[in-house]
Amino acid sequence: MTKNILMICSAALLVVLFGCGDPQSPPVDAAAGPDQQAQRREAINTLARAIGDTEGLDQQTAQEFMKVMREAPVFKNKFLGVRTLQNPTDAWIVMEIMYEVRPDLIVETGTYHGGSAPFWAIILEHINPAGRVITIDIEDQRTRRAKNLPIAKKRVDFLLGSSTDPEIVAEVHRRAEGKRVLVLLDSLHSKEHVAAELEAYAPLVPVDGYLIVQDTMVGPIAAIDEFLAANDSFVADRGRERYADTNTVRGYLKRVKP
Ligand SMILES: C[S@@+](CC[C@H](N)C(=O)[O-])C[C@H]1O[C@@H](n2cnc3c(N)ncnc32)[C@H](O)[C@@H]1O
Repeated sequence: MTKNILMICSAALLVVLFGCGDPQSPPVDAAAGPDQQAQRREAINTLARAIGDTEGLDQQTAQEFMKVMREAPVFKNKFLGVRTLQNPTDAWIVMEIMYEVRPDLIVETGTYHGGSAPFWAIILEHINPAGRVITIDIEDQRTRRAKNLPIAKKRVDFLLGSSTDPEIVAEVHRRAEGKRVLVLLDSLHSKEHVAAELEAYAPLVPVDGYLIVQDTMVGPIAAIDEFLAANDSFVADRGRERYADTNTVRGYLKRVKP
């Protein structure tokens, strides 16, 4: 597993392990004993340091990360046999937004093993029979099973490259022309990368549509706050955060004007 993935998955992991609500002080599992809580707090600190260090992780940190990661429930999630790093409650909210927005095209950044794109696609098929999903990743880590899923073959297009590479951005804009687009950002969760993704993909979102930023608890939340301060076309639709364990704090961004 690459350094990038370690860092990307950290935000999700923090929330999965500790719940969320207030990003500054994640609650510990009430059922855990004091020792376990202390261990988990230490793990959080390790991960927080790791996320802040954009130069990457040293070997010991990576090992600690892997140990914690193996225990995190989200890394056991599978959709049609493909590992899928989605918090189930957020996936449910995305499903509701999809039904309301009725997109022609979903643009997802961050494919990983290729589980989430067919998950969106199978729902989209029932909402808009012509709907498609574009999923973008800097590395092709899709499993053979993911590539061979009939729904993936039918409705999912994979683009290899960075979601902020100008050629990828231009290609997505070309394919999105005239389409009602829903954007879902789930790639590198650093502030800088998410800020660049917001700039690249927000223009695709129609009024009353959504741009969803996942795993906001670490870097993305700062990017979101700056984006919202500079841009009054979007608001954070906090009503979507009705589950306490959302990983999408201030991340359900709704376009309210052109
Ligand atoms: C959290 S995982 C995506 C999980 C996936 N959406 C799911 O639910 O299973 C993040 C992914 O972002 C990818 N990634 C990292 N940097 C990227 C970049 N600059 N552009 C696109 N994808 C990137 C990683 O390779 C990794 O597969």
